[in-house]
Amino acid sequence: MYRRKFLRRASQALAGLMGFPLLSKPSSLPELPFDSAEREIDPRDEAYWALVREQFPLTKERVYLNTGGLGASPYVVIAAVQEKINELERISETGHGEELWRGMKEKAGQILGCKAEEIAYTRNATEGCAIVCNGLPLQRGDEVITTTHEHVGNTLSWLARQKREGIVMKIFEPSTNAAQENIDRIARLITPRTRALSIPHITTSTGQILSVKQIGELAAGHKLWYFVDGAQAAGMMPVNVHEIGCHAYATSGHKWLLGPKGTGLLYVREDALDLIEAKHLGGYSNIGEFDMTTGAFQFHPSAQRYEYGTMSTPLFVGLGAAMDFLLRIGMQNIWRHNFALATALREGLNRLGVEVNSPQAQNEHSAMITFTLKNRAREEVTKFLLEKFKLRTRGIYEGGLNAVRVSLHVYNSFAEVERVLEGVEGLLG
Ligand SMILES: Cc1ncc(COP(=O)(O)O)c(C=O)c1O
Repeated sequence: MYRRKFLRRASQALAGLMGFPLLSKPSSLPELPFDSAEREIDPRDEAYWALVREQFPLTKERVYLNTGGLGASPYVVIAAVQEKINELERISETGHGEELWRGMKEKAGQILGCKAEEIAYTRNATEGCAIVCNGLPLQRGDEVITTTHEHVGNTLSWLARQKREGIVMKIFEPSTNAAQENIDRIARLITPRTRALSIPHITTSTGQILSVKQIGELAAGHKLWYFVDGAQAAGMMPVNVHEIGCHAYATSGHKWLLGPKGTGLLYVREDALDLIEAKHLGGYSNIGEFDMTTGAFQFHPSAQRYEYGTMSTPLFVGLGAAMDFLLRIGMQNIWRHNFALATALREGLNRLGVEVNSPQAQNEHSAMITFTLKNRAREEVTKFLLEKFKLRTRGIYEGGLNAVRVSLHVYNSFAEVERVLEGVEGLLG
């Protein structure tokens, strides 16, 4: 025990001397209460959310408002990764094990509302999108409906298939006026050649929550394959993929889930495992032995068939710790908090007379609010906010916008929303 402590201190001191202090939780920092998820936590309970904020090494020298780009990880996640690296590097093993994988996938199932067997680990949301796009049995002339507000991570694979194989992309502009309008826009694009529907759960551009359940009903009515890009939803709000009714759903581990960078989750519904063909194959994609003489091999019966080759166990253990962290706070509590902050920002921007690109409707705007300042380039706005107000936001060009996006997660506060409003006011002035 004494020896282990000594070694840890010595390695921390050494790392410190080298200019890389290890990020570890201060010993005086209280744990988050274990029972948070079981009670309703007021988004304005300052003491509680301040305690949540303290769980992150994230600098306070600036305000971090770009979770839609990348989420910050709490100490518990960093420690879980560090410890797993230490454990595995000492024995030089991958650490991959059925039991460990399954345990972590059960947590993912709680976050996404599905079975552990329906989850595959990926390196990011983009990989999940690409697996689905390239795995669907589409022919030349088959049509796929998607939006004009896609993130490059979902759209490039589809565009490449269009170019390479002659599938046809049909696009619609998401309306921020009414959910029904989007359902009508999709319905108008459906023809006898339509095979698939690929849409984001929450748009990267305006943070609009699309009515994915109703759209799923429309897709099912026309027997379309239905893919939802959930990069911006998992970890921000409760998600239930079974209720959405999609065949597949991809998300990042390193945005709202607050996991290590280079992690993602792909859900594929049990009955779609043979529909969406696993194309990148290798160790862990199959069960049993392959036979070179007959050419026979067997896919893994679960979504694990989409995993291939050696993966980083420490990163996925870190993702498991991140999901535990979120589940301990409770997804409903997180969503209420994030949504309350976003509402305060949206209303504040409205009061300032700024153009808000995000929907005004309560059930359509998420914890990301996007706004446009007249006659100002987005780069100018993000630079001003960063330099003068220490606010890290993100410029938005997607969907043809010249706008700025603010993401609000568990580590953000109402005081920070006020600071954004002051910054915007500073620019208007
Ligand atoms: C809607 C959407 N899809 C996909 C991605 C790509 O995510 P990743 O970097 O995890 O591949 C993003 C990233 O911002 C996104 O917003």
